[in-house]
Amino acid sequence: MRGATVKAAEFDEIAPGYDESRGGTARAAGFAEQLAPLLDPARPVLDIGVGTGIVAAELTARGHTVHGVDLSPGMLSRAKARLGARVAVGDACRLPVRSGSVDQAVSTWLLHAGPDNRAVLAEVARVLRPGGRYLVIPAGGTRPTDDIGLLVGELEDRLDPEGSRRDGPEWLAPIGAAHGLVYEGTASERPTSFRVSPRAMAESLTRGLFTGAWAVGGEASRLVDETRSRLLALPDPDVPRVRETADVVLVFHRGT
Ligand SMILES: C[S@@+](CC[C@H](N)C(=O)[O-])C[C@H]1O[C@@H](n2cnc3c(N)ncnc32)[C@H](O)[C@@H]1O
Repeated sequence: MRGATVKAAEFDEIAPGYDESRGGTARAAGFAEQLAPLLDPARPVLDIGVGTGIVAAELTARGHTVHGVDLSPGMLSRAKARLGARVAVGDACRLPVRSGSVDQAVSTWLLHAGPDNRAVLAEVARVLRPGGRYLVIPAGGTRPTDDIGLLVGELEDRLDPEGSRRDGPEWLAPIGAAHGLVYEGTASERPTSFRVSPRAMAESLTRGLFTGAWAVGGEASRLVDETRSRLLALPDPDVPRVRETADVVLVFHRGT
C-alpha cells in the first residue's frame, strides 16, 4: 500500500504540467485514432490509469463512452473536468469493478509507471467478460536504437530485471497467457520521431520522471547516476538526436 501511496503522490506532483509535457492533445488524438477502430462504440470502455483523461476525452469525441480509474487524485481531478462523474480513484491491481463485467478496457502508458504488470493483467482478466478486449499502448513503443536509446534501454533492463514494469509484447504476452488473456498481436503501428540531446535525457533521468521517481533510490540511484555520466560522455552531448520509434497497440482478449 505504501508503494501505491508513493506513486500517487508522484503523479499528483506532475499532474499540472502532465498533458503539455507529454505531447498534449496531439499525442492523445493520435492514440485515440489508433484505439477507436478496435473498440465497439455501442459498449462502454474502461480506461485503466486514465490519468488526466486526455486520451479518454479524445475517445469520447469519437463516440465512445469512457469510464476511468486512476490511483492519483491529482491526475484524476483533471479527468473529472473532462469526463465528469465517470471517473474513480482506484488501483489497477484491485479494480473497483465486478468480475466479468467489462466489455473492453484500454491502458495507455500505464504499465511502465509502477503497478506490477502481473497484478494488473491478472486483474484485467478478472474484470473482463469472456471475449472482452484489453488494448495496451506501451510507453516504450519500439525502443529507439540511437546512442541515447541504447544506454537508456540498458538502464531500464538493469533497473527492472524481473520485468515488472516492462510493457512490450515479449513480456506481456506470456503473463497474459498465465491469466487467461490471449495476446492477438499488434493491431496498429504509428511511426513517430522526437528530438532529444544526451544532456536533456540525463537531466530527465536526474529528475526521476523518466524511470518513475519511486524507482530511484539506493542501488537504482547508482545505476541512474552511472547512465547520466555515460550520456554526458557521448560525443556532442548538447546536439539533439532524432530518435525514431513507433506507437503500437497490443490487443488481448479474455479467453472463454
Ligand atoms: C504516464 S501516466 C498515463 C496517463 C494516461 N493514460 C495518458 O496516457 O495520458 C500513468 C498513469 O497511471 C497511473 N497509475 C500508476 N499506477 C497505478 C495503479 N496502480 N493503478 C491505477 N493507476 C495507476 C498514474 O497515476 C498516472 O495517472
